[in-house]
Amino acid sequence: MKPIQVGLMGIGTVGSGTFNVLQRNQGEIRRRAGRGIEITMVADLDMERAKSVVGGAARVVKDAREIIANPEIDVVVELIGGYGIAKQLVLEAIAAGKHVVTANKALLAVHGTEIFQAAADKGVMVAYEAAVAGGIPIIKSLREGLTANSIQWLAGIINGTTNFILSEMRDKGLDFDVVLKEAQRLGYAEADPTFDIEGVDAAHKVTLMSAIAFGIPVQFDKAYVEGITGLAATDIRYAEQLGYRIKLLGITKRTDKGVELRVHPSLVPSKRLIANVEGAMNAVVVHGDAVGTTLYYGKGAGSEPTASAVVADLVDIARLADAEVAHRVPPLAFQSHTLEGAMGSLPVLPMSEVVTSYYLRLRVSDEAGVLAKVTGLLANAGISIDAVLQREADEVGGEGSTQTDLIILTHETREGNMDAALAEIQALPTVLAKINRIRKEELN
Ligand code: HSE
Repeated sequence: MKPIQVGLMGIGTVGSGTFNVLQRNQGEIRRRAGRGIEITMVADLDMERAKSVVGGAARVVKDAREIIANPEIDVVVELIGGYGIAKQLVLEAIAAGKHVVTANKALLAVHGTEIFQAAADKGVMVAYEAAVAGGIPIIKSLREGLTANSIQWLAGIINGTTNFILSEMRDKGLDFDVVLKEAQRLGYAEADPTFDIEGVDAAHKVTLMSAIAFGIPVQFDKAYVEGITGLAATDIRYAEQLGYRIKLLGITKRTDKGVELRVHPSLVPSKRLIANVEGAMNAVVVHGDAVGTTLYYGKGAGSEPTASAVVADLVDIARLADAEVAHRVPPLAFQSHTLEGAMGSLPVLPMSEVVTSYYLRLRVSDEAGVLAKVTGLLANAGISIDAVLQREADEVGGEGSTQTDLIILTHETREGNMDAALAEIQALPTVLAKINRIRKEELN
């Protein structure tokens, strides 16, 4: 069978990894795909860099539209990122009848509905394994391996930058700002780390997983997004004393009322495997009704780990390009006309409707009755307390201190209920600083 011809848009870290993996493993990949997979064109603004990667093996151009215009190219691999020019190029490639492989989570989380529709209209595939958790085959697992299941929930550490920062904060007892600077110096965090530290990158990824898990459209605009910038080393230490680690989790859960879709720092019991995922590694826990709880772990970024996912998509396309459209795996796992959200039966819930449990840290006056008042207001709201930790005032504020930290773990309640209770507690004159609230997930 004729080799499938690929045009690469962008040959930076992931692009060069893709080129190298395809070259190195071409024999095995051909045996698996049933035909060769050849990168015959590469577009990059830095043509010299591109030529230094591909040598004479592919034609290098500056303008990505030359790839789209080439009738010999079957598949376009978009590795530009963002949703500016990348969106235009992907839509133009689809309109030209080319299959698309992309690592672009932002593009699909925000514009996925339009892109998948355009691909369906044209009868081409859009594959995106590399968009979520890099080298971990989580899209394939959710879409195919777990297809028998009614998936109940999933939770993932899906941003390596923030997991690296949290691991360093815990190991070294340092605050967020200090660790971020060090991570930037070492190249673990981008010069502009906003998307990572504010939770946006993780929200793009969990939005895609949520759609596949529950058969709903991609709805990034409905995701609740909170990053790690407000976390203090103190919280990590107190959490540890209570038997928990703090992780930035992307969580999506099916409930009677709809779907929870959220990213925020979470306390996770230290004994859970996912709580022990450290450094820049990623992991996703998926709970299905038939299979129970499963865990997927690996590198969420990097040249060849991400290339591993890109090439896997290329192999799928090489196998299925000539198959009937109806025989291909739907991009969001469910047949597109059955997506639940379109019929309104599985709405994404606002954060006020999410049910979870909490860690609260209160800086309070160390005097009689303070604890009773705080716990009284929680009791009035029907919020049950799971554990309380209070440090000696001297330990918290130095010798002779009249202030202390009160740490409370609660059982589950609705977020709207907790918000109302916290507003009342915050108003107490003996509560001396803004209450720090972190959600807690048992993941069992
Ligand atoms: N910036 C991401 C991370 C990698 O830190 O995990 C690409 O998604």
